[in-house]
Amino acid sequence: MRFGLLSLGALATVGSLVEAQCPDYTTFSQSPQGNFSAGALELPFMRPAPACRTFHSSSVEKVISDMKARLKDPDLARLFENTFPNTLDTTVKYFNETENLAFIITGDITAQWLRDTANQFAHYHTLLGQDKELATLVKAVTNNEARYVSEYPYCGAFQPPPESGLAPTHNDWADGVTVNPLMTLEMPVNNQTVFECKYEIDSLCGFLKLSRSYYQATNDPSIFNDNWHNAISQIFRVIEEQSQPTFAEDFNFISFYNWTGGNGALSPAVPNAGNGEPKAYTGLVGTHHRPSDDLSTFAFLTPANAMLSVELGHLADILDSAKQGKNISTLARQWSSSIHNAIWNSTVVNNIFAYETNGFGGRYVMDDANVPSLLSLPYLGFLEKTNPAYVATRKLLLSRKNPYYAQGKSFRGIGGPHVDVWNPWPMSQISSIFGTDDDEEITTALYLIANNTAGLGLIHESIDIYNTSSYTRPWFAWANSYFAEMLLDLADRKPHLIFHDNRSYVPGKN
Ligand SMILES: *[C@@H]1O[C@H](CO)[C@@H](O)[C@H](O)[C@H]1NC(C)=O
Ligand SMILES: *[C@@H]1O[C@H](CO)[C@@H](O)[C@H](O)[C@H]1NC(C)=O
Ligand SMILES: *[C@@H]1O[C@H](CO)[C@@H](O)[C@H](O)[C@H]1NC(C)=O
Ligand SMILES: *[C@@H]1O[C@H](CO)[C@@H](O)[C@H](O)[C@H]1NC(C)=O
Ligand SMILES: *[C@@H]1O[C@H](CO)[C@@H](O)[C@H](O)[C@H]1NC(C)=O
Ligand SMILES: *[C@@H]1O[C@H](CO)[C@@H](O)[C@H](O)[C@H]1NC(C)=O
Ligand SMILES: *[C@@H]1O[C@H](CO)[C@@H](O)[C@H](O)[C@H]1NC(C)=O
Ligand SMILES: *[C@@H]1O[C@H](CO)[C@@H](O)[C@H](O)[C@H]1NC(C)=O
Ligand SMILES: *[C@@H]1O[C@H](CO)[C@@H](O)[C@H](O)[C@H]1NC(C)=O
Repeated sequence: MRFGLLSLGALATVGSLVEAQCPDYTTFSQSPQGNFSAGALELPFMRPAPACRTFHSSSVEKVISDMKARLKDPDLARLFENTFPNTLDTTVKYFNETENLAFIITGDITAQWLRDTANQFAHYHTLLGQDKELATLVKAVTNNEARYVSEYPYCGAFQPPPESGLAPTHNDWADGVTVNPLMTLEMPVNNQTVFECKYEIDSLCGFLKLSRSYYQATNDPSIFNDNWHNAISQIFRVIEEQSQPTFAEDFNFISFYNWTGGNGALSPAVPNAGNGEPKAYTGLVGTHHRPSDDLSTFAFLTPANAMLSVELGHLADILDSAKQGKNISTLARQWSSSIHNAIWNSTVVNNIFAYETNGFGGRYVMDDANVPSLLSLPYLGFLEKTNPAYVATRKLLLSRKNPYYAQGKSFRGIGGPHVDVWNPWPMSQISSIFGTDDDEEITTALYLIANNTAGLGLIHESIDIYNTSSYTRPWFAWANSYFAEMLLDLADRKPHLIFHDNRSYVPGKN
C-alpha cells in the first residue's frame, strides 16, 4: 500500500474542532465500525461521530435521508450514506469565509490536489444553488486554488495556505526531484506552498471544472476575482507552451517544463533530461504526468485533451453569461474547437481511440482507471455513450486487449501502473456505468463495486484480483465521491434499477 508510506502525523485542527479526541480517519476507515446494514453484505456505518466531522451541511443530510428512503437495497443505501458526505465529513482542513480560503485534503494524504478536489465536490453540484454555506466553501476552495495556479501553473498538489497556520507536510516523493520552471530563484521547488510539482493538464481542467460548477449553480460572478483571472492567463500560457513540438522548424529544442528524479521508483530518471519522449505538433496539448500522477509514455493524453476541450467550452459560456472577459471566451472557444478536431484527427484509428499519441504515429492503446480516462469520455461530456468510436473503444478497454484490464474470480476492471497490473480500480467500474444505458451491464458493475469493499463500506483505490480482501487506500475521498455521484446519476437516469419505484430523483429539485 504505497500511500501508507507517508508519515502523516496528527492532522491539524479545523476551527474549534477538538480533533484530539477524534480518531485518525486513516485508522478508523480500516476496520468495520459496527451498526451493520440489513442487506446480504452487512456493511458497517463508517461516518465519523458528528463532533469529528469537518463540515456540516443540512442539505447534504437531507439527500442522505431521501436516498435511504428510496433505495431498495440496504447495502447500497449504506454505501451511499458513507460515501456521499465523505468529503465534508473528513477532508475540510481549513475554511475561513472572511479570507475566502479553504484547504481540502485528498484523504490519507495531507495535500490539496487540483484534480481530486474538483472530483471531491462534483456530486454536490446541484446543491450549491440552495446551500449558501456549502457554496461559500466551494468558492473559498476555488479561490485558494486560483492563488496556487496563478503562481505555479505547472504544479498539481499543494500545501495549506499560510493563513491557516497549518504546517506543510514533507513529501518524500518530491525529494531529489529536479523540476523546471524554477519555483523560486533560490530553491528548485518552494515546498512551503507546493506539495508536488508534476505537470498534469487535467489538474488545470479540475480547477476550470470546479469554477464553472460553482458559477453554473450560483450565477455568482464574484468568483472571477484577480487571482482567478491571473490563474486563467497562466492556464492559457501552459496550453500555448505545451502544444508546441519538441523541435522548432530550425530544430531549435523547445522545453518549457522538465522533471526528473533520482533512482527511487517514485521519482525515476526521465529520458531526455526530464523532458520525456519527443512530440510532434498535432494541435493537442501535451502533458508530462497522467491523472494517476504517473509519468506519461507519450505526451498527448487523449482523455485529458477531451476534458480540456469540454471545460474550455464551459469557461467561454460562463464568461459570456457573466458578460465579462470577451477576449478570454473567444480564445477559449478557439482552443476548445481546435483541440476537439485534433482529437478526432490524430487519435482515432478504425474507431479506436489511443490513450496516448506522440504525433509521429506512435499510439498507446490502453486505458488507466483514473479520470479523465477513455472509459469516462461520456462522463466528461466529450461524446455520447452511443458514439460508435466510444462503443468500439469501450469494448476493447474492458477486455484482454487493454494491457491494464485484469479479471479475477470476484473482481475485475481497469487499473494502471500506479499500483500494479493485477489491482484494478473500482473507479473504472464507476466510469463504465456512466458510459452505458444497458441495465444488466450497469447492475453487474454496481455489484462488482459493492461486493468488494473488503466489508468496510467505503470505496478504495484498487483491489487485488487474487485476494479481494487486499486493497489500497482505505480513505480515498475522490473514489467515495465518484461512487456517490454515480448513484445519483442512476437515481435520475435509471431509478427503477435502484429504487423501490421508477420515479427519478435529483438533489435540490425533489
Ligand atoms: C448507526 O447508523 C445510523 C444510520 O444508519 C446512524 O444514524 C447512527 O448514528 C449509527 N450509530 C452508531 C453508533 O454509529
Ligand atoms: C478568518 O480570518 C479573519 C481575517 O483574517 C480573522 O479575523 C478570523 O479570526 C478568521 N476566522 C477564523 C474562524 O479563523
Ligand atoms: C523543504 O525543503 C528543505 C530543504 O530541502 C527541507 O529542509 C524541509 O524539510 C522541506 N520542508 C518540507 C515541508 O518538505
Ligand atoms: C528545462 O526547462 C526550462 C524551462 O522551464 C528550460 O529553460 C531548460 O532549457 C530545460 N532544460 C532541459 C534540459 O530541457
Ligand atoms: C483579456 O483582456 C484583459 C484586459 O484587457 C487583459 O488583462 C487580459 O490579459 C486578456 N486576457 C487574455 C487571455 O488575452
Ligand atoms: C485534420 O488534419 C488535416 C491535415 O493535418 C487537416 O487538413 C484537417 O483540416 C484536419 N481535420 C480536422 C477536423 O481538424
Ligand atoms: C455480489 O454478491 C452476491 C452474493 O453476495 C452475488 O449473488 C452476486 O452475483 C455478486 N455480484 C457480482 C457482480 O459479483
Ligand atoms: C488476503 O489479504 C488480507 C488483507 O491483506 C490478508 O489478511 C490475508 O491473509 C490474505 N489472504 C491470503 C490467502 O493471502
Ligand atoms: C421508468 O420510467 C421511464 C420514464 O417514464 C420509462 O421510459 C421506463 O420504461 C420505466 N421503466 C420501468 C422498468 O418501468
